Amino acid sequence: MSPSKSDSILIVGAGVFGLSTALELKKRGYSDITVVDRYVPPAVDGSSVDISRIIRSDYADPIYSQMAREAYQGWTTEYQDQYHQSGFVLLSETPQNTYMEKSKAVIRASGGKVDDLPDATQLLNTYPNVQANLSGLNGYHNPVGGWADAGGSIQKLASKCSVAGISIITGPQGTVVSLRRDGERVVGVNLLGGRTLLASQVILSTGAWTSRLLNVGNSASSSGQPVGFIQLTQAEARSLDSTPVMINMSTGVFCFPPTPGTNILKLARHGYGFANEVTVDVDGASRSISSPKFDSNNAASGYLPDDADASLRQGLRQFFPRLADRPWINRRLCWYTDTPNGDFIIDHHPTLKGLFVATGGAGHAFKFLPVLGRYIVECFENTAPEALRAKWRLNLPKDGSSGSAMAGDGSRGGPPLRKLTPLDQAKL
Ligand SMILES: *[C@@H]1O[C@H](CO)[C@@H](O)[C@H](O)[C@H]1NC(C)=O
Ligand SMILES: *[C@@H]1O[C@H](CO)[C@@H](O)[C@H](O)[C@H]1NC(C)=O
Repeated sequence: MSPSKSDSILIVGAGVFGLSTALELKKRGYSDITVVDRYVPPAVDGSSVDISRIIRSDYADPIYSQMAREAYQGWTTEYQDQYHQSGFVLLSETPQNTYMEKSKAVIRASGGKVDDLPDATQLLNTYPNVQANLSGLNGYHNPVGGWADAGGSIQKLASKCSVAGISIITGPQGTVVSLRRDGERVVGVNLLGGRTLLASQVILSTGAWTSRLLNVGNSASSSGQPVGFIQLTQAEARSLDSTPVMINMSTGVFCFPPTPGTNILKLARHGYGFANEVTVDVDGASRSISSPKFDSNNAASGYLPDDADASLRQGLRQFFPRLADRPWINRRLCWYTDTPNGDFIIDHHPTLKGLFVATGGAGHAFKFLPVLGRYIVECFENTAPEALRAKWRLNLPKDGSSGSAMAGDGSRGGPPLRKLTPLDQAKL
C-alpha cells in the first residue's frame, strides 16, 4: 500500500537524505511535509557539511556508479555553482587494487575515459603542481570528477525546500528524543522539553544518530573519521592551482585542492574510523551503540585522538611535503553511518507501521544529492526496482550489540576500527 499524498509526513533529519526526500515528495504532490533537526541545515556536526566532498562516479559497484553519473547531470546544471571539476586521482602502493580495477572497468563499460597510471609520477604531465612524491605508487586518473561545497549545497537544497513550501523546524522544538508509538504503529515523535509532533508517516533520516531512536541491530553503526584544515596564503594556494582531488587507497587519506577565495586546504581519511560507545535506552531496552553526542555539537571541540591526528599529519606530509608542519586551523571527527557493505538503508520498517528509514550513508552519499531523493521516494512509494529494494533493505535487528567493524565496500584504507577510550570520549 502506498502512502497517500495528503498524509502528514514528518522527516527527522535535515541532511542530504532528509532534505532531498522532502523536496522530491513535494514535487510529487505530497502536501504536508515537515522536516525537523537539532540544528539549522547545514547541521554543523552532520556528515554533509563544511567546504568540500568528493564528487566521483568511480565505484566498484555499477549501481552506485550509474547513480553518480545521473547525479553528475545535476552537479553540472542545477548545482554547478557548488561544483568544481578538478579531476579525481586514485593512488595505491600495491598493484591491482581490487576496488580501483573494478571501478575502472565500470567507468569504461559505461563509455567513460580514464587514464591508467602504472607509474603515478606520470600524473605530473597532467598536473605539474602536484607536490607529492608519487614514485612507487600506481593509480588512475578520471578527468570527470572533483568536489562540491557540501555546506553550500545543503544550504541551497534547504532553501529549495523552504521555497517549495516545506516546513523546517530546528532547535529544541525540532529535536527528537524518541519515536511516539501506538502499539505497532509510529504516530509521531517526542521532542525535547516534552512536546510531541504527530504525523501519519515518519521518515527517519537521522544519519549517525539513528540507533539512538531506533534499534537497527547490527545493520548500522557510527564511526568518526578524522578531518583537518590548513590555512594557506594566496601564494601557496596559487602554487597548488589546477591540482586534482586525490585519494591514497593504501592509507585512506584523501585531499582537495585549496578552496578558491579562502585558500583553505582540507584532508580527511576514508577509513574504518573510531567508535564512540554509549549506552542508550531505545523502546524500553538499554543498548550499547556507537554514536556521536546528541545533546551538544560534535564539531565544537576540535578534538582528534592522537592516532587520528598522526595519520592525517602523515597524509599531509605525503600529499603536500612543503606544508608538512603547518598547524591545523580546525579538526574534527566526521560521523559516518556505516553499514556492513556500505549500502544505504532505505526501506519501510519491517514491523512498525508508519515508519520509513533513509540512512546509512556509509561515507559516500553526499555526491548523490541531486538524485538521492528520487531513489528514496521510489522506495517509499514501492515503485523502485526489486534489486534496489533488496540492496537497501532494513534487516530486522538481531543481536543488540553494535560498534562492530563494518567491512564496507572495499574503498576504505588504514587501520581497523578503534573503540575510543573513556579519556578520548571525555574530550570529544
Ligand atoms: C621519492 O621517493 C623515492 C622512494 O619512494 C625516493 O627514492 C626519491 O628520492 C624520492 N624523491 C624525492 C624528490 O624526494
Ligand atoms: C600512499 O600510501 C603509501 C603507503 O602508506 C605511502 O608509502 C605513500 O607515501 C603514500 N603517498 C601519498 C601521496 O599519499
